[in-house]
Amino acid sequence: MKGIYTKFSAKGYLQEYFMENEYDYDDESKFLLQFFHDTYSMMGPRKRLLEVGGGPIIYSIISASSAVDEIFFSDYLEENLGEVRKWLQKKDDAFNWDKYFELVLRLEKKEVTLAALESCKERLRRKVKKLVRCDILNSNPIGDSGKFDVVASNFCVEGVVSTADDFRQSLGNIVSLLGKDGLLVMTLLKNGTSYKVRDQLFSVFPVNEAFIEAQVKALGFFKIKIRSIDIEDKDRGYSGFIGLTAKKKN
Ligand SMILES: C[S@@+](CC[C@H](N)C(=O)[O-])C[C@H]1O[C@@H](n2cnc3c(N)ncnc32)[C@H](O)[C@@H]1O
Repeated sequence: MKGIYTKFSAKGYLQEYFMENEYDYDDESKFLLQFFHDTYSMMGPRKRLLEVGGGPIIYSIISASSAVDEIFFSDYLEENLGEVRKWLQKKDDAFNWDKYFELVLRLEKKEVTLAALESCKERLRRKVKKLVRCDILNSNPIGDSGKFDVVASNFCVEGVVSTADDFRQSLGNIVSLLGKDGLLVMTLLKNGTSYKVRDQLFSVFPVNEAFIEAQVKALGFFKIKIRSIDIEDKDRGYSGFIGLTAKKKN
């Protein structure tokens, strides 16, 4: 199971799913950004957020940056962290996420001006305190970094495991990083079998709303909220996206 991600390409992933010229506020991006906006604007102020398996992308934490004091961003691959680092350091060859920031500004009912855009980007850069390697197959996925008030994991677990038992185990490893009153935030591919990065197919363990709800319930979570969107594109190896939030029982 481990090792397939040696064939992952950070640049390929960005190109496949986030290239600017192919992107025009499609329904999928809107669904995801709306989900993160609703989740992070309604949860109330929290101190520490951990993004697990964050990949080379940052759009998932733009909204969070208005609600938490610090963000730890983790991924299995140094190459992915490198892409995020480039954006944080404003390198010339960093990926341009401006369209996503513009949409977040609209969701925050702010006027989209150059100044507002820069200020939103700075807000996120200020909040990301650490980039760290993680392994959700490990019972201690990021080493010793303490507990978090929010743990978010997007399109990660189902892309790493191949059985329901491993899914439960890895999710258990992830939520072990949540502290008291912790909030779990997840997006997942629905009914996935694979996803593509360049000419490489990555296998996906198929999950649906009932499955993920049962998993988080079994781990002792409550106030489980789930929403989903269907994607009608036969060429994709999945039929939609699921967004989930759940609270940890203390
Ligand atoms: C489909 S990508 C999702 C990236 C990003 N979270 C997003 O929403 O686009 C799956 C991610 O899982 C990461 N990954 C692979 N194996 C992992 C492991 N054992 N532990 C944690 N993350 C892993 C990969 O490096 C990759 O960034």
